[in-house]
Amino acid sequence: MFSAAIVFLFTMALFLSGYVLQQRYVHTLQAAIKPRLPKPLPAAKPIQPPTLDVKWARPMGSRPDVDESVDQLIAGETLDWSRLGYVQVVKEFAELCSAVMLLADVQKLKSPAKRILMFPRVWLKERKDDEEYDSQMSTTMRLLRTAARRHGVTLHPMETIVDGADGSLPSSYSLASLYSLTNYERIVYLQGPGVLLDASALDSLLAFSKSEPMAAFPATPERTDLSTSLLMVHPSHESFQQLKASRSSKPVTDLDLFRQAFAAPQSLISEWSLSMGNVVYESRHLRDAVDGFNLTVFEGATTYVRLSDPELPGPEYDVPYNDRARLRPKDEQAREAWEKLYERFRQRRMEVCGLDLEYWEKPQLQADGADRADNGQEAADDVHEDTAAEL
Ligand SMILES: *[C@@H]1O[C@H](CO)[C@@H](O)[C@H](O)[C@H]1NC(C)=O
Repeated sequence: MFSAAIVFLFTMALFLSGYVLQQRYVHTLQAAIKPRLPKPLPAAKPIQPPTLDVKWARPMGSRPDVDESVDQLIAGETLDWSRLGYVQVVKEFAELCSAVMLLADVQKLKSPAKRILMFPRVWLKERKDDEEYDSQMSTTMRLLRTAARRHGVTLHPMETIVDGADGSLPSSYSLASLYSLTNYERIVYLQGPGVLLDASALDSLLAFSKSEPMAAFPATPERTDLSTSLLMVHPSHESFQQLKASRSSKPVTDLDLFRQAFAAPQSLISEWSLSMGNVVYESRHLRDAVDGFNLTVFEGATTYVRLSDPELPGPEYDVPYNDRARLRPKDEQAREAWEKLYERFRQRRMEVCGLDLEYWEKPQLQADGADRADNGQEAADDVHEDTAAEL
């Protein structure tokens, strides 16, 4: 009897310890799987402006129109995340990898929002039986599959913005197609290529902002024009038809199209939201870093860095060391930040797309690189289209 009791007690103890261990394991597992919920937007009191970039360090305005009808935290728990998303729009093959990388970053940072990739529908056109895919096309298909299977991206083929336009030209597509995603309440578009360091500020904006047709990142601190570096959009059929009509009447760049359709201060992301830190930062500004720039603080306060240095062809290209060394920021901490960003991009490109950096030949004309920052490519493509229309 006594020995039976002992056996029972030991069995019980064994069972309990096993149970406790298992529970602990399950909790860790749950914590790892669960998407990170957004922090509520900061309180309504005036907020210290960020001090990293003197240009943005300005006193903040009042709190913007955020939906305060429900306690934000509760709202965050019950929010319908299936109607909020991050979108990338790809118009040509060369942009695909960077777009998939950005959406993979969103996934890695555990944002609960959807990830959506828009790309020309002609890419899906059926291949004829005897026709071999060329290597570009097979890379494209591989990247689309990776995006969908490994990174949970919703693939969304898009039509040309002008009905009947040549689907093989990048300039036939427009960011205005964002407005066709009417299944979504609010979507965020980030202009690539770049590195997403932290998605929490963008998640909070997505979750708790009021739906506006357009809330764009300002082109300058003076807030006189919008830029396309970050757009938060409420898609609607009306806006889409308007933009489509406007674009059909005259070929213009996306930037000009949006500037015509959405007046500046009203359609800009609220000044207040910039107090969340550097929501969008351009890598070339690291060269203007002043003394006392701190890498740790910079990384902690920055959401997204667009890798754009006018003299460089883009982070996808392997630029010889001597050329890079000339362009690096002089400040030691800023230089480290700059190098880390480009290196991180290179590594992610390999991890996500399985692609090495592209070979780059130095252009003969200096102007070539400088154009890039001002949508020079789009302008060039529009010229293309005009020519094509005449033929
Ligand atoms: C940067 O800031 C962090 C945190 O404030 C601090 O621990 C670190 O020493 C600073 N680094 C430098 C180089 O000043």
